[in-house]
Amino acid sequence: MKTLHKPVPPGGTIGIIGGGQLGRMLALAAARLGLKTYIYNDAPDAPAFQVTGQSIAAPYDDLEKLAAFADACDAVTFEFENLPAHAIAHLAEHVPVRPGAQALAITQDRLSEKTFVEKLGLKTAPFFDVTSAGQACEAFGKLGGRGILKTRRFGYDGKGQAKVSSADEAAKAFESFKGAPAILEGFVDFAYEASVVAARGADGGFAAYDPPENDHENHILRRSTVPSRLSAPQVEEAKMIARQIGDALDYVGVFAVELFVAADGALLVNEIAPRVHNTGHWTIEACACSQFEQHIRAVAGWPLGDPVRHADAVMENIIGAEVEAWQSLARTGALHLYGKAESRLGRKMGHITRLKPLTKP
Ligand SMILES: Nc1ncnc2c1ncn2[C@@H]1O[C@H](COP(=O)(O)OP(=O)(O)O)[C@@H](O)[C@H]1O
Ligand SMILES: [Mg+2]
Repeated sequence: MKTLHKPVPPGGTIGIIGGGQLGRMLALAAARLGLKTYIYNDAPDAPAFQVTGQSIAAPYDDLEKLAAFADACDAVTFEFENLPAHAIAHLAEHVPVRPGAQALAITQDRLSEKTFVEKLGLKTAPFFDVTSAGQACEAFGKLGGRGILKTRRFGYDGKGQAKVSSADEAAKAFESFKGAPAILEGFVDFAYEASVVAARGADGGFAAYDPPENDHENHILRRSTVPSRLSAPQVEEAKMIARQIGDALDYVGVFAVELFVAADGALLVNEIAPRVHNTGHWTIEACACSQFEQHIRAVAGWPLGDPVRHADAVMENIIGAEVEAWQSLARTGALHLYGKAESRLGRKMGHITRLKPLTKP
């Protein structure tokens, strides 16, 4: 495995696996720091290809193409967490990969992720391993209430999830996943959702952004708002949760911890995203150093930037056909469009951030 002993200097090349909007915003941030990007995506026409000097469209398990890509980069990172483990190991033989294989392996599987979080002494929803319809029934019995069955891997925006309120529904939901291993989680009657976007540097340095409050619609993030309703001690607790997770994963780069805030104020960890996160997009306008610049800094071995927030902010996603209103949207805030040719139902086409003067420093 290759490690990086010196920072990647300006003019160096950061490889990014995945060419969606996150890769695109990472590439834009890298360009501002004088770094080049090389983007690897499994399909052509990727949003990030429009803003990078070098790109390649090839399957994520094409080891030869991955090796050639890695050899052309000074460090490699990801905009998504689902690269096969053997492909990551292969990349790591050629180039420093940040975050590393172990952090990705733990967080790309909901069972290993929740087990890891629990071992750290942090709170989560109750969860059970489910590998058969019979086990789904049994797990539902242990839960003693409503639950959500989730595939262990490859879920996003609520895909691979089903709410269940009986043992029979749990078994049927498992069958609808066509044999994919799953977990059954207890349904958390949360007051609201929040998240911490944080970064860990190669030297173990840590920086966390103020946690936004997040609203979802149809399982897709609608809006992130800072400041959230969290009290000052809860904000500190949320940041400490992220720090504990980042340290335990020996993480390098930006990651997000999604939280459920219970009615009694308890913070439960929902999931860890080992990458820049949709609930951190407001940092582009509202913070001294955005989550995208922060990630590039960490991956390149630079000092972390200042996560201080200079404004209150509301970030709203622009989903599907909502993008047709781009002209009126452009009048009301900082508009980001991702350069996607076609709008489809539920597809994230852009986002808009609206700032207000800082109320809670
Ligand atoms: N155990 C749970 N109890 C209540 N709501 C949940 C639970 N798990 C997920 N949700 C809801 O579904 C959303 C998406 O679930 P999540 O596990 O974060 O998957 P994804 O990978 O799709 O983001 C959450 O943000 C939350 O609104
Ligand atoms: Mg989530």
